Amino acid sequence: MKSSIITLKEKKRATTSVTTLPSKMTAEWCSLLLSFAAIAVARVHCQSSEGFISIDCGIEDGSSYDDPITNLNYVSDSPYIDTGINANVSAAYATSAMELQERRFLNVRSFPNNNRNCYDITGVAMGSKYLLRATFMYGNYDGRNSRSIVFDLYLGVNLWKTINVTDPAATIRTEALAVALGESFSVCLLNTGKGTPFVSGMDVRPLKDGVYPGLNATLSAVVHNRLNMGPTSGAIRYPDDKYDRIWEAYSSPQWTEISTDSTVNNLSVDGFEPPTAVMQTAVTPENSLTLNFTLELDPGDLSEIVVAVLYFSEFLTLTGNMSRQFYIYFNGARWFQKPLVPEYLLSDSVYGIVSQTGYWQYNITLQALSNSTLPPILNAMEIMAAMDSSNEATDGGDVDAISGIKESYQVKRNWRGDPCSPKDFAWDGINCTFSLSEPPRITRINLSSSGLNGTISTAFATLAAIQYLDLSYNNITGTIPGFLARLSSLKILDLTNNNLTGSIPSALLTEAQNGLLTLRKLWRYGQGRNIGECLNFIILYVAMDFYRQVIVNINECRLEGNPYLCTDESSCQLTPASTKKKITAPVIVILGVLPLLLVVLVVFLVWRYRTNKGYGRASHVSQQNQPIFNRIQKRQDSPLQFENRQFTYMELKNITDNFKRVLGKGGFGTVYYGCLEDGIEVAVKMRSPSTSQEPKEFLYEAQFLMRVHHKNLVSMLGFCKDGDYMGLVYDYMAQGSVENHLRGRTQNATSLSWRQRLQIALESAQGLDYLHKSCKPSIIHRDVKTANILLSDTFEAKIADFGISKTLSETNTHVSTIIIGTKGYLDPEYHITGQLSRKSDVYSFGVVILELITGKPAIITSEDNVHISHWIQQRLAQGSIEDVVDARMHGEYSANSVWKCITTALACLTVLPYQRPTMANVVSQLKRSLELENLHSQNRRTVTSGETVFTSSLK
Ligand SMILES: *[C@@H]1O[C@H](CO)[C@@H](O)[C@H](O)[C@H]1NC(C)=O
Ligand SMILES: *[C@@H]1O[C@H](CO)[C@@H](O)[C@H](O)[C@H]1NC(C)=O
Ligand SMILES: *[C@@H]1O[C@H](CO)[C@@H](O)[C@H](O)[C@H]1NC(C)=O
Ligand SMILES: *[C@@H]1O[C@H](CO)[C@@H](O)[C@H](O)[C@H]1NC(C)=O
Repeated sequence: MKSSIITLKEKKRATTSVTTLPSKMTAEWCSLLLSFAAIAVARVHCQSSEGFISIDCGIEDGSSYDDPITNLNYVSDSPYIDTGINANVSAAYATSAMELQERRFLNVRSFPNNNRNCYDITGVAMGSKYLLRATFMYGNYDGRNSRSIVFDLYLGVNLWKTINVTDPAATIRTEALAVALGESFSVCLLNTGKGTPFVSGMDVRPLKDGVYPGLNATLSAVVHNRLNMGPTSGAIRYPDDKYDRIWEAYSSPQWTEISTDSTVNNLSVDGFEPPTAVMQTAVTPENSLTLNFTLELDPGDLSEIVVAVLYFSEFLTLTGNMSRQFYIYFNGARWFQKPLVPEYLLSDSVYGIVSQTGYWQYNITLQALSNSTLPPILNAMEIMAAMDSSNEATDGGDVDAISGIKESYQVKRNWRGDPCSPKDFAWDGINCTFSLSEPPRITRINLSSSGLNGTISTAFATLAAIQYLDLSYNNITGTIPGFLARLSSLKILDLTNNNLTGSIPSALLTEAQNGLLTLRKLWRYGQGRNIGECLNFIILYVAMDFYRQVIVNINECRLEGNPYLCTDESSCQLTPASTKKKITAPVIVILGVLPLLLVVLVVFLVWRYRTNKGYGRASHVSQQNQPIFNRIQKRQDSPLQFENRQFTYMELKNITDNFKRVLGKGGFGTVYYGCLEDGIEVAVKMRSPSTSQEPKEFLYEAQFLMRVHHKNLVSMLGFCKDGDYMGLVYDYMAQGSVENHLRGRTQNATSLSWRQRLQIALESAQGLDYLHKSCKPSIIHRDVKTANILLSDTFEAKIADFGISKTLSETNTHVSTIIIGTKGYLDPEYHITGQLSRKSDVYSFGVVILELITGKPAIITSEDNVHISHWIQQRLAQGSIEDVVDARMHGEYSANSVWKCITTALACLTVLPYQRPTMANVVSQLKRSLELENLHSQNRRTVTSGETVFTSSLK
């Protein structure tokens, strides 16, 4: 037993970097050690080990145990690291590890893969000071009997220590003192090509803020020596040292070892708080007044700033002329100018920089003053060096972003520690730029073939310096987010072979078109075609109405390997993937369901015949007996229509001041300005007495208006049915029609801003969407045009003139009618087939959007009666957006926003109705366009207000 303890002691000594080995090894010390251990165990429960993190690297993942000596709980390192493999030291060294009484040395985690492997030691408080310790024993765990393994240990981005293993049985221990800069410490092992890194254990111990003054967030230290002078055996650590610092015993044959049983108290304000057990022992020179010794640092540990802390305490009660006074010299130079006078049973310490030139050898001399009767005394000392801090951590924003990405895709790999730093050891798949003026920035991310699932993470939005993003060959789903277009540095985006859906954000397309961004392998169209060519191609062919080719080519322009992705909303309605699938699938379905369909059809026809007979007769009777007007009155009984008021012809005459002011002429009559008794301004539409129109048709509008209530549809206040006279009373729309504004036919000549135009488009689209979707049965306006969009005094847009609107029964998607509408706004499909559907309104609305953008009429008479859609496409194919945008906006618009509107409008103008978006799609596109404009104008406003501040401060 005794001999084994002596071996243990010798081994421990052998592993410290202290040059001189202790000489005295006595059996008494062994018993002292044993009693120490006993005391330690007995006292452990009185001490707080709060915040201690004790990691045994290489034990079974998730396991833990209590150390019998310190009673500290050691846990597996698996929560702190994703990489590396566990291994046991070979049997020959397991015995010596057992002798060390440190179970940690029985196993290691080794890192044969990756150049850099990092532990993220979580559970620390940001801004607090900590002691960190890493331990290593090779123990021939890999069976290779290596005699030289050298690798680097990093704390965060800073080199902590180069670990140099030359002896398989040697235990290496290194300590750092550092302030936590975040919620975790990252401890990295770097393979520098001289052997596979491994680690046995790690400790993290919180320190009180006041201890080790001078160390702060920007200055960390590596502890080289922590020596307990005097006749102790073994090291002193927790629970004697509440911070679990490990104090190695150190002595010399030329020294007298002294000790006291009395408690040595810390000073009330103590920057180091040495434990009593350490301060109770000390050394003095034997027969001399000079204490002399040399400490050598590892040549690999050279540091410019080396700091020493020396601890003293007086054990004797000095009487008479007894005195103990001495000076301290480092390498021959007096270090502390005043003579040292230790205080009785109080722990005194001096600390300071001992060199700034990078010595690796220190001659330390404690020299008594000539009038001192007692020799110098030394209880303990520490030597530490400033940790190199020349590496800068990656930009905080980039770190947050990449951590978010790591989190959302659960990226394993070696993604721990700082993403960029140290320079040659960035995370796999990450490239960074390094400059003197700013922290490293992430510029490239390659996550190709990484098995990523889910959507494109919003974390990508904050990677401000990213230039190259490769997410190809994964299973990414969802849409391509618009924020990718806002990554101003992004030059190459590769989304090949994923399962993306939806449309490519127009802002991205714009950037690609302008050559700012390469959407890598995005387009399959032809060989060597880029996205710009592809897009021009689409626009050109839409313009030429070669719609069949458009379908084919839009498909060719899909993102390669993303079968559900499409160029715009209209192509999104096509079935995905190959044309083969597209044709065969519906055919098979139709063939399969055909017999069933026939049965349903027969049943339906029989049912319809029966119901129509009864129902038809009833309605015939009612139409004959009561005029339609009465039916309206009946409807009025319901509380919803209560606000509608009935006027007499005389009343209308008074309201309009004898039909004095004409506001406009609608399809079925003239509209006059009027004013109700209570001052409310109204518009009164009177049926032209000359018109051949049935009163029934005139009153259709009244019927519609009673049913529909939406803020973007003009509201009817009342009606008149007085003999042959018929009239409708509406809200007065002070700003008149959008057409008049665009033609400059209004009194106040201020032209509409892009935001106002967008707002008008959005509001009227919402009105139409309401007619199509929320009305049951749904209503087709049939005469959507800028003349029928009216503006309130606050420029709120409302759709007017429902004179030719049609209801669509729920079973039908279209109705056949006589062709009616306004030239230039007419859906060509409707024109050819007479089939009216909601998509006819969508077509007309596309024309409205183009009018708002260009300020031009639907048919441009000044240019050979060209239709506005052809005009805009011709111009876009040749030039840029400025050539089509209304010059009266003075260039004050977001090009992205306008571009989005153009693509939306062109989608509305697609020849095949089913390829057109719904009004709901149009609404959402316009909303996005408005967002783009808001973003743009916010930036503008910031600049303006900045200027204002500047000028006012000049005054
Ligand atoms: C290490 O040794 C322990 C105990 O003998 C055993 O349970 C464990 O599986 C070994 N670990 C490895 C990685 O071989
Ligand atoms: C490692 O230590 C050995 C023996 O002390 C020494 O010869 C060698 O130069 C050291 N290697 C490095 C890289 O410091
Ligand atoms: C330390 O002392 C030794 C001998 O006393 C001397 O050889 C050596 O040069 C000294 N080292 C320094 C750094 O002064
Ligand atoms: C010893 O000498 C120093 C100056 O050399 C003096 O400051 C100190 O007071 C003296 N100590 C005693 C005990 O006389």
